[in-house]
Amino acid sequence: MANTDNTEGSATTLRSIGAGLVGPEQAGRELRVAGWVHRRRNLGGMVFLDVRDRWGVLQASVGPEWSSPEAVTAAQGLGAEDVVALQGEVTLRPPEARNPEMATGDVELQVARLQVLNRAKTPAIPVYRVPDEELPSEKLRLRHRVLDLRRPELRERLELRHRIVLAVRNYFDSQGFAEIETPILTRPTPEGARDFLVPSRVHPGEFFALPQSPQIYKQVLMVAGFDRYFQVARCFRDEDLRADRQPEFTQIDVEASFVEPEDVYRWCEGMTSAVARAADAVAEPPFPRLDWGEAMERFGTDRPDLRWDVELQDMTETLGALDFRILRSAVAAGGRIRGLRLPGGGRLSRKQIVAVEGAAKAAGAPGLLWAKALEGGAASGPLGRFFLDGTSERLALAAGDLLLAAAGDDAVTSPALSAARTASIAALDLPPRTDDAWLWVTDFPVFEAREDGVGGGLAANHHPFVQPRPSDLHLLDSNPLAVRGLAYDLVYNGTELGSGSIRIHDADLQLRILEMLGLDRDEINAKFGFLLEALRSGAPPHGGIALGVDRLAARLSRGESLRDVIAFPKTTAARALFEGAPTPVAAAELAELGLSIDDAAGDGG
Ligand code: AMO
Repeated sequence: MANTDNTEGSATTLRSIGAGLVGPEQAGRELRVAGWVHRRRNLGGMVFLDVRDRWGVLQASVGPEWSSPEAVTAAQGLGAEDVVALQGEVTLRPPEARNPEMATGDVELQVARLQVLNRAKTPAIPVYRVPDEELPSEKLRLRHRVLDLRRPELRERLELRHRIVLAVRNYFDSQGFAEIETPILTRPTPEGARDFLVPSRVHPGEFFALPQSPQIYKQVLMVAGFDRYFQVARCFRDEDLRADRQPEFTQIDVEASFVEPEDVYRWCEGMTSAVARAADAVAEPPFPRLDWGEAMERFGTDRPDLRWDVELQDMTETLGALDFRILRSAVAAGGRIRGLRLPGGGRLSRKQIVAVEGAAKAAGAPGLLWAKALEGGAASGPLGRFFLDGTSERLALAAGDLLLAAAGDDAVTSPALSAARTASIAALDLPPRTDDAWLWVTDFPVFEAREDGVGGGLAANHHPFVQPRPSDLHLLDSNPLAVRGLAYDLVYNGTELGSGSIRIHDADLQLRILEMLGLDRDEINAKFGFLLEALRSGAPPHGGIALGVDRLAARLSRGESLRDVIAFPKTTAARALFEGAPTPVAAAELAELGLSIDDAAGDGG
């Protein structure tokens, strides 16, 4: 709000000051304010109005002693959310009437004149709520977004988002980056998620796609010699939604030439600290780093939440020695036994442990084993009963600790134990060691296995442009799944905020990777010909990153979902409830685009 967060900045022709900005310094002055009727109370011949504007709420009093007769009549007829302009003198409230909860709580406007600028229908959802009153359902709030956005919490979050983006722009500008816009109407490109297609009227039967990200354009800008690019870029993905995904979202998209990962880390850390300052959060570079393999080993996930120290451990040797069939057969089949030691976790009830196990099962594990450590090295629980002399000691379990364990392939136990870690930390309400845990996860694998066997069984782990680590290039043919890339993610409190890499700038290597992903030459030329051509025209080494603005703003404003920091978000069913989209279009409109709808196509909900 910096630009108008002062009394003078708020003045317009219709008002002299923002209502929420009035304070004791204005006592004795004649002012004009304007806003919405937040609340109206009649008390002994007086009408008290709480008038709300962008800056807050100001109490105004209307009464025969200082108000015109018209003002008194008008005030009595006011309803919630009517729009009014008030003129009068600011007075200090008597000490017993002061309200320390309100920024304007020491003063009151004694209204001389009142003008009704507009009437409001009875609001479908209340804007004024008594403290702790529950919000209406989110569906209802999204439908009536215009009213919901009047809530101070939402307004503050959107203003914080503005300050974050402003800090980002200022930071990159200070580092010599230029913001360059890339097309919104673009060529369909596969980047692991689904394109929104836009039919062309001028070229019936042909389509543009909305960009899933400006990835190829920013690389081409590097080949063109721009050296340092950034963009606050809108991206579109027609994919299944989750809590931290929206079909359209914003990225801080960054690319630079003649760089190595260290350069990207440095810029991103600089940007992040600038943003954190704007958001009253803490980001102190350099951020810790974990390579992907270590993150998976110690936390079971590539986006560990480092606010808690709890780590996974390999317990194959100790637990594999127990006379427990499931464990022995998992180890015999080449699996490992890994587990979590939760100091003091023994206080979890059986029901709570079952809920933690539920989280592990939802993440794909057949089950979770547990043991509560008792005095003298004994243990209880399905696993504890099998403990031998010295088992507790070897696992460093003290009386009162809880052990959670899973056996099998890492591919199964890692996500399960990661989910169990999150669930048990929550169930135990463990205090975090910090509120802001930033982390770089580095050296992601270039490929992942593809179950359907398409493309030689390989898919790009992120996108097909990631430069393999030079030391791993020799594995491309013999063991592609072991090839690590110069690829990194920025993780904040367990959320992936950003993702990037150094790119392949050698056209032949790029071609080879695309072929390994199962594309034939025709497909490659059709989809990536223009990139390859650019790479052949003298491409500098380059790399970058993209950070999700919505996720960044939601996390830094401690919002619950991305919808809290987007003015007009989509639901998890990918619908816009306020304006009502998507909708069918008239046959005539379709005909003009050369399209018709197949009746069999269903409504997705
Ligand atoms: P990626 O697909 O990982 O990388 O996206 C980068 C960041 O964008 C955010 N993000 C989303 N936010 C909200 N809703 C979504 N549906 C959504 N999808 C992604 C996340 C994510 O970390 N071109 C590459 C970046 C690069 O390599 O430079 C890319 O788009 O915060």
